[in-house]
Amino acid sequence: MSESFDLVVHGGTVFTPGGPVAADIGVRAGKTAAIGDLKSAKAAERYDASQLVVLPGVIDEQVHFREPGPTHKEDLESGTRGAVLGGVTALFEMPNTDPPTTTEAAINDKLARANGRAWTDYAFYVGASPENAEELGRLERLPGVCGVKMFMGSSTGSLLVADDENVARVLKFGSRRVTVHSEDDMRLQERSALVKDGADVSMHAEWRDVETAVRSTERLIRLARQHHRRVHVLHVTTAEEMDLLSAHKDIATVEVLPQHLTLAAPECYQRLGTLAQMNPPIRDARHRDALWAAINAGVVDCIGSDHAPHTLEEKARPYPRSPSGLTGVQTLLPLLLDHMAQGRLSLARLVDLTSAGPARIFGIAGKGRVARGYDADFTVVDLKAKRTITNAWIASRAGWTAFDGMDVTGWPKATIIRGQIVMRDDALQGTPIGAAVKFQETL
Ligand code: DOR
Repeated sequence: MSESFDLVVHGGTVFTPGGPVAADIGVRAGKTAAIGDLKSAKAAERYDASQLVVLPGVIDEQVHFREPGPTHKEDLESGTRGAVLGGVTALFEMPNTDPPTTTEAAINDKLARANGRAWTDYAFYVGASPENAEELGRLERLPGVCGVKMFMGSSTGSLLVADDENVARVLKFGSRRVTVHSEDDMRLQERSALVKDGADVSMHAEWRDVETAVRSTERLIRLARQHHRRVHVLHVTTAEEMDLLSAHKDIATVEVLPQHLTLAAPECYQRLGTLAQMNPPIRDARHRDALWAAINAGVVDCIGSDHAPHTLEEKARPYPRSPSGLTGVQTLLPLLLDHMAQGRLSLARLVDLTSAGPARIFGIAGKGRVARGYDADFTVVDLKAKRTITNAWIASRAGWTAFDGMDVTGWPKATIIRGQIVMRDDALQGTPIGAAVKFQETL
């Protein structure tokens, strides 16, 4: 008797841990149950992946949605909808909402809101503050929590842990990896006169300069070593930090963003104005080249989107009253596929950065590879598709992307989460089935 499956994805090139192989995938009860020739297997549903590549589901470990709080920019439904349209199967959401996610009640509130409304699987960060430092060891282990987020420099929202004493307190309580927005707040305050009374937005990278980032990352690494705590440095933007971080791979993992890999100053500020304003800022081509070199040297562990929606109206305020942040969860994969088509990274490296990398950093249980026993999360891509990224395609309530009008090669064809097809050919399928991501018990 032939085997039977809930779903068979057939005829594609499957990106297994050993690399690409021509194979079918059989899914049962939401998990990958077989990889091989399943031509004669029974299947309740079949997806024809001929001419397509089946990647492990893309995991975006850094998004900012706005719920609870300013949901006119984004909520959990619209944010996760954009994600599945862009080929993302799971995401971790940041705590700088209103109220910030710093208590058990706030975490449970987000989990309740996500239930039945999230299109992707999800987990939430607990925000570190001087007030909740002692609580973090307990909060970081609650179901649905991916870890701790600490802002060492002020950005959107009120979360801030600026001084060494409090950074040390945050690092002391708990054992999972602490993710960090690394900009030195003291230096940001000292230099705020540069932009306070209005300035051109290109001054953003001057105010939040290289030294601001380097100083903070040096402090962080020193304190992480003192307290034997693993850290994950988010959105690294400078050549100097990459040199530093390459010497501390045993304790610090590294994230970079497509924004910093794709855009460069001064051109981005001339062309996009405040639409290119974000923290940490987009810098010149010397730094962008260094980020690519760090990707190819293996210093970078993952790529997230830092999806940070603000409306066009808010962005139109005169700098520096314009808020910082770009949408990105939907364009993460198309931009990376295009970089791959341009020869800047291999498909193996892309998979490592968007799937295996986040799984490794955060100790995600059962995701991050196409393998028997793992969740059947697949991002099916057409590497040859020629498409144009447009604002009209963007699901975010913000309604815009800095990459509007950009022609790209490579596009997500289907998003499959635990064996359910939730997006195919740019259209949503079914209802939001997202569930909380699970983590390895021992971490
Ligand atoms: O540009 C940014 N925007 N950087 C951050 O750290 C926060 C984000 C937001 O939430 O708007």
